[in-house]
Amino acid sequence: MQLSIKSADKLKPIPDSSALSFGTIFTDHMFNMDYNPEKGWHNPRIEPYAPINMDPSTMVLHYGQSIFEGLKAYRTGSGSIQLFRPKDNFKRFNNSCRLLCIPEVDENFLFDSLKKLITIEKNWLPDAPGTSLYIRPTIIAMDPFLGVRASYTYRLFIILSPVGAYYSAGFNPVKILVTKDHVRAVRGGLGEAKASANYAASLYAGEAAHKEGYTQVLWLDGIEQKYIEEVGSMNIFFVIDDEIITPSLNGSILSGITRNSVLALSKSWGLKTIERRITIDEVMQAHASGKLKEVFGSGTAAVISPVGELKYGDKVITVSDGKVGSVANKLFKALTDIQYGREKDTMGWIEQVI
Ligand code: COI
Repeated sequence: MQLSIKSADKLKPIPDSSALSFGTIFTDHMFNMDYNPEKGWHNPRIEPYAPINMDPSTMVLHYGQSIFEGLKAYRTGSGSIQLFRPKDNFKRFNNSCRLLCIPEVDENFLFDSLKKLITIEKNWLPDAPGTSLYIRPTIIAMDPFLGVRASYTYRLFIILSPVGAYYSAGFNPVKILVTKDHVRAVRGGLGEAKASANYAASLYAGEAAHKEGYTQVLWLDGIEQKYIEEVGSMNIFFVIDDEIITPSLNGSILSGITRNSVLALSKSWGLKTIERRITIDEVMQAHASGKLKEVFGSGTAAVISPVGELKYGDKVITVSDGKVGSVANKLFKALTDIQYGREKDTMGWIEQVI
């Protein structure tokens, strides 16, 4: 496939990198590619960032057949640009395709196209501490049709957004509400796909949590509502005694790339890391007996996000005295040192763009 490139006539002003929030500003160009059953994926192109023209009957608007990814490009101290584990994102993109009945994509071609897009947009790479270029590959169902079935046609696009911290708190503890009233996903559903529908399912409880002053929701399993799953935009870790515990991947939890990196780094430091089922009662008891040392989330957007407070039913617990714990701190430093090229990448996680 031949990638075509059309440059924007007029470039937008590039924002001050020290004042960036998350996901509000987009660069001058985007990548687009279409699918139909006759041609397969075709017409890959980098072109000016623009709205997508859609018939009101377009299937994605009605039945939510849509998936996405989230990854970041980082500017290093020497001015080069690098990506963190991008091939894992494209692999997961194809896993999501399979679950949502979307035709799979050529991961290597997408990776090469992404590198071209970032190279064109290199001036948009912010350089203030903690900033990066967030990358959002997405696929949407494009048939103009109201019957319920998998679409025959699709649009794949990649947009880029210079970002600062995902949470306005930055690298500071957030407050999380454990919900008993709602579930995000169930076994056999879409939980492990990065499907837009999972995020739609998270909104009601998220809004309720915000009203109570909590940043995000911690989800319990959809069947017994006992076992901890994940937070809407992050996987979750508990440090109990000297063990780092995270829920095992059970089909309804997203297989986070940062989650996997946390496990790999912790293991490489000789820490005890365990993937297993863990109940909310076990966490509350560990707190009561003084064994719950830390709770933190992991995600591309959030990196490592310490949790300072958890509310479950009537109980509110403070974790690590509401401060950043030492394990979260060490992981945040190690991950960001690799991502920003301050430390050598001994894990093979970095892909150089320029
Ligand atoms: C990410 O961490 O990239 C995510 O996809 C979370 C989110 C902003 C939906």
